[in-house]
Amino acid sequence: MSTNLAVIGGDGIGPEVVAEGLKVLGAVLPGVSTTEYDLGARRYHATGEVLPDSVQDELAGHDAILLGAVGDPGVPPGVLERGLLLKLRFAFDHFVNLRPARLYPGVSSPLNGVKPGDIDFVVVREGTEGLYVGAGGVLAKGTPREVATEESLNSRSGVERVVRDAYARAAARPRRKLTLVHKNNVLVNAGNLWARTFAEVGKEFPDVATDYLHVDAASMFFITQPQRFDVVVTDNLFGDILTDIAAAISGGIGLAASGNINPTKAFPSMFEPVHGSAPDIAGQGIADPTATILSVSLLLQHLGHTEAATQVENAVADDLAAREPGVPVRTAEVGDRIASRVS
Ligand code: NAD
Ligand code: IPM
Ligand code: MN
Repeated sequence: MSTNLAVIGGDGIGPEVVAEGLKVLGAVLPGVSTTEYDLGARRYHATGEVLPDSVQDELAGHDAILLGAVGDPGVPPGVLERGLLLKLRFAFDHFVNLRPARLYPGVSSPLNGVKPGDIDFVVVREGTEGLYVGAGGVLAKGTPREVATEESLNSRSGVERVVRDAYARAAARPRRKLTLVHKNNVLVNAGNLWARTFAEVGKEFPDVATDYLHVDAASMFFITQPQRFDVVVTDNLFGDILTDIAAAISGGIGLAASGNINPTKAFPSMFEPVHGSAPDIAGQGIADPTATILSVSLLLQHLGHTEAATQVENAVADDLAAREPGVPVRTAEVGDRIASRVS
């Protein structure tokens, strides 16, 4: 049966980078059927809709989703991010938010003296809980007594499933090392649950070496000693922040890929660049589509097209190695070059 892909270009540079992702996908695996969904700021302004139930049901019927980015300066913050992106991550139970960080040969890192190989880790970010659940509220809004709360939800089952997934990923890698990142010296309730679960699940993986870091120290070590990381598991918000740092040290946000994965395959997984809609450069044809193309590689891997996934990653690596330092990126040219390397 042929692969059925749902495509959400979204806002800003989203549709621009997704077009290049699809170009490469079509070149490496011809015959994938794609359905484009018009979601994001344009639809919101035209109809008031963010994600109608009927569209969510249709998306659920696909093998996977490729998403560009959502968020627009003309829409109040959170409307599209929560109403579309997070709604899909929650509805499709994307509890593994997989965010690899690798410094490819030829790519310059802002860190002094790091070589390819020094940065090669993957962050397994929990995707369905934590501070993202939308618990909390506002009292006495607009008054001097206003109080706003956001509560972090951490369930034993939610923590356990993502921690187990991260151990399994670590066990399958040559270095077999897993680092838990939290803040259990302050966030003692959730931190204790994470640390205890991490230790208990670890008994199933005696070959995996473990480490624990508080998130502030981990942020420092991402910059000063990125070599110490192999697989990192952490909660939703820490993972969000750490993966922008991971992107920055490995050549920039234009190269950082992600997969919102439901390992049970009960719902389609969703692949997207780590970056946002970049309104500051939208419409100029200068966004780097590499993050989206690498997200296509993760998508292919997830669907079992291992060879095609490797071909795309290798083509990206070759393209990055051949790029002239300092020459600005042209979105469509990057897509053309990488597509021609895989066909
Ligand atoms: P952003 O990632 O959109 O942009 C941050 C900076 O990185 C900008 O200077 C931008 O030009 C640059 N950048 C991003 N992607 C790039 C690319 N492919 N090539 C070259 N440069 C690139 O983050 P932001 O400015 O904080 O957010 C903008 C909007 O995007 C907001 O509405 C935010 O909510 C949304 N957002 C969405 C997602 C998502 O859909 N997954 C992720 C992050 C932010
Ligand atoms: C990301 C983004 C999202 C997140 C926002 C847009 C909801 O920053 O995918 O990293 O915080 O997860
Ligand atoms: Mn983010």
